[in-house]
Amino acid sequence: MANPEKKYYLTTPIYYANSRPHVGSAYTTIVCDVIARYKRMCGFEVAYLTGTDEHGVNIERAAEKLGISPADLVDRNQQIFRDLWKLLGISYTDFVRTTEPRHAVAVQNLVRRTQRVSPDAIFKRKYEGRYCIYDNLYVSDTPEPADCQICGRPAELISEENYFFRLSAYQEKLLQLYKDQPDFVQPDFRLNEVKSFVESGLKDLSISRKTIKWGIPWPGDPEHVFYVWYDALTSYMSGIGFVDGETASKKDSERFKKFWPADVHMIGKEIIRFHAVYWPAFLMAAFPDKPMSEYMPGRIQAHGWLLFEQEKMSKSKGNVAYAEPIVKALGNDALRYYLLREVVFGQDGNFSKDALITRYNADLANGLGNLSNRTLTMIENYCGGVVPAQTAAPSNLRGIASTTFHTKIRNSYDKFEFSDALTLLWGSVAIADKYLAEQKPWTLAKDPAQKARLEQVLYVAAESLRIVSVLAHPVIPDATQKIWEQLGQAGKIENASINDLQWGGLKPGTRIGKPEGVFPRADKNEILERIETMENEIRNPAGAQPAATSADPAAPAAATAAGAAGSPAVAAKIVIEDFAKVELRVGVVKSAERIPGADKLLKLLVDIGDEVRQVLAGIALSYAPEDLVSRKVVIVANLAPRKMRGLESNGMLLAASVGPDGKPVLCTFAEDVPAGAKVK
Ligand code: MSP
Repeated sequence: MANPEKKYYLTTPIYYANSRPHVGSAYTTIVCDVIARYKRMCGFEVAYLTGTDEHGVNIERAAEKLGISPADLVDRNQQIFRDLWKLLGISYTDFVRTTEPRHAVAVQNLVRRTQRVSPDAIFKRKYEGRYCIYDNLYVSDTPEPADCQICGRPAELISEENYFFRLSAYQEKLLQLYKDQPDFVQPDFRLNEVKSFVESGLKDLSISRKTIKWGIPWPGDPEHVFYVWYDALTSYMSGIGFVDGETASKKDSERFKKFWPADVHMIGKEIIRFHAVYWPAFLMAAFPDKPMSEYMPGRIQAHGWLLFEQEKMSKSKGNVAYAEPIVKALGNDALRYYLLREVVFGQDGNFSKDALITRYNADLANGLGNLSNRTLTMIENYCGGVVPAQTAAPSNLRGIASTTFHTKIRNSYDKFEFSDALTLLWGSVAIADKYLAEQKPWTLAKDPAQKARLEQVLYVAAESLRIVSVLAHPVIPDATQKIWEQLGQAGKIENASINDLQWGGLKPGTRIGKPEGVFPRADKNEILERIETMENEIRNPAGAQPAATSADPAAPAAATAAGAAGSPAVAAKIVIEDFAKVELRVGVVKSAERIPGADKLLKLLVDIGDEVRQVLAGIALSYAPEDLVSRKVVIVANLAPRKMRGLESNGMLLAASVGPDGKPVLCTFAEDVPAGAKVK
């Protein structure tokens, strides 16, 4: 039972519900999950809040484009977030949606409270300036055209009367806060950036919008809705029970009282100004009657960006990788471990599927997975499946047995230096592995006189495995739970205390579970191909695209042109206008070549009359590249481009899909037809 005095409140930002999360967005949530799990293992009761940011022009327009209501759009999208968090094993305790009534009441009450206790803090005046609808940022306070500092897109002109927050009045108080709480913003260099921003002078901030409908109405003046960031930031309070008024239930008020204010707001670096300047100022204005310790968050922790192809991974740049295919191909732990190990927390880090699989094989399959499999199988085979007599750690494994080492790992977790914690831990995995290689228990097992020695070696290996598993659990929860069970340990590993790990905790005589591999080795090419196929399905969901063909490596089998009879994708009749949306053209193959590492793919250059297109086709098992040159083909010319193996494919070849394996047979012409001719 967690010590009720030891409580910890941690938040992710609430995610814009206008699009599907990618690996970059999942990064914040995974990092917070590691912290939440770690804190629980230290005996803290943890409230971990996440949620969705569901208001604003961006959402309004995205819904309009799809021809659905904003409410339907956010309903649909928030579920995608919840599903992904489940898949990633995110142990959040509270989920807030900004369209929930409890949240709207909280936002309105916070502003009412502010108007009551700080009457000068909010005033009305005309605003004219540029606003980015994607980042909900006031880009400049003049009407001249300007691009958003965060996403680079052109900002829109706003000219209307708004409610303003007197941010300028909080400049000195904010600087004082940074002085009194020097770790209020982390890392330190971010605090310096924030300080210089504040020192350079703060302008009052518009906190309502008049020309938008999709938002929380301003109390007593419903022509206005709240500025999305005022609305969104308040979710850190409403999500944990703040209502501030007669409508608060007892349960809500108790939860709020217990956890508020947050220990850490975890954020990406681009939203630091909202959290480290606006948010504390909004709170100072709302609670001037209370000591700061009762309402000011402990820390704003900014992490860096996940880069993909050298740029911030983001939907608008089209350079995203999705988490679901990775988890389905390699497991949840693989993605978590890779992100925490590879990215130095606080700095930008590169994301690469290739590096992810290399890491997986080296550290998880060959590293921890191998240690676990070997040790447990040998206990099963040589010790009748029972943990042998306890023995002290030999000198080369003293590190892992010592509390100094455990404390070192904990210190790294405490400082959010995850990569350091994992580097240290995996150093121990390597030492344990080396120990087995040197002691050769498989040879000792052949000589009955060496029984005692054999048992000592296996005890050492198994106890090292137990200790590493506990220390690595916050990062790789699934595999460590499996190892825990295979070591015959009762209950959940998450309930093991990370604070008082002791060598010898593994009790002799314990019956171990059935040894089973936790990280099977991955064939890089095969896994890459699986991941990319699944990614393409996310980008171009079946049904949202014209009938795919077996010449398209990413096509789901049920949607192939020839093999689809009776499949749902073609069973429904389409009208001629639907078919007319597909632009089919005659193409002439100019060149064809194999793609290293991709067995099924060919890269073709196809002349379609007015241009030459690069097309990737999954026909390498049926066609030799040299046989394709000069051949006439039929190409779907208006298919959205997609990437495979880092190469762009701009179109798709039509082919019949023949036999049980769906062997592709390219469509062609018996008579002469020019490149570019329309096929209808
Ligand atoms: N809705 C606002 C936050 C309001 S909080 C009161 C928002 N949402 S977001 O969906 O754009 O971002 C959510 C989180 O994902 C942020 O922490 C953001 O930094 C993070 N990331 C999105 N893309 C990212 C990368 N490419 N790399 C790392 N994190 C990034 O901002």
